[in-house]
Amino acid sequence: MEKFQISGSEWRVWTKGEGKPILFVHGFPFDHSMFIPSCFPLLDRFQVILPDLPGFGESRFLEGIGPDKIGMADYADGLAAILDRLKIEKTILCGLSMGGYIAMQFFRRHSERLAGLVFCDTRPTPDSPEAAAGRLRLAESVFQTGVEPLPARMIPNLLSERTRRESPGVVRFVTEMILRQTPSGVAAAARGMAERDDSTEFLKEITVPTLALCGKEDNLSPPNIIRSMAEAVPGAEFLEIDGAAHLPPLESPLLFSGGIRRFAEKVYGDGIAEGEGT
Ligand code: MLT
Repeated sequence: MEKFQISGSEWRVWTKGEGKPILFVHGFPFDHSMFIPSCFPLLDRFQVILPDLPGFGESRFLEGIGPDKIGMADYADGLAAILDRLKIEKTILCGLSMGGYIAMQFFRRHSERLAGLVFCDTRPTPDSPEAAAGRLRLAESVFQTGVEPLPARMIPNLLSERTRRESPGVVRFVTEMILRQTPSGVAAAARGMAERDDSTEFLKEITVPTLALCGKEDNLSPPNIIRSMAEAVPGAEFLEIDGAAHLPPLESPLLFSGGIRRFAEKVYGDGIAEGEGT
């Protein structure tokens, strides 16, 4: 694990494996650990890069409770700075849900750093006024209640009915991951998401290979949205993951990593055989 100080935050970043890079950006309110089970099968051929976004996991704000709000573009700029520190010129960037909102901003601001894009269980559109208002209420309330009410409220939408019934270990993993997050990190991201702008028009400008994937039972970012993202990006592929709702890397880790592997092998071609630097 490495630590990097970037504009008011200390980012913690795990890098594992050797070969061409894949940067995984977690969703809300999670941390890098959501990708660990699905990353192991990739380590023989790829370098996986797993940051905790500022305010999440083990990343920290350097002063006080940190900023009121962190925009998706701010996270994207931080990720570009992480790539600089790691001396990685280009990477595949895989962003899940909020990570996907950040991936869209990353494309808009740092497209020259991208070898490929994976949008997981996300959407290009901004919040409705009602959804944005709900985020602002959450940002206020989390300082009163802490994060304790969040797992019970969120898990029915995050995990498929089957995962909840048959995989108590996954339910526990997600519960504990949410409970690790701080009110300040959650509030800053919620306010940032509430103000995110519309990236729909930019999808047609994406020129790097792109995979849009989602859990078949995702009701938060349903398959029809991910499919239309794949249709909007020239040449993009679409993949539905069986047995998963909003969190395929945890609910169906082997199907998820298999999809990422096939895509990354296609993107990087023969170069991965030598584990070339970037
Ligand atoms: C996530 O998983 O990152 C969230 O569902 C994103 C959101 O709340 O829009």
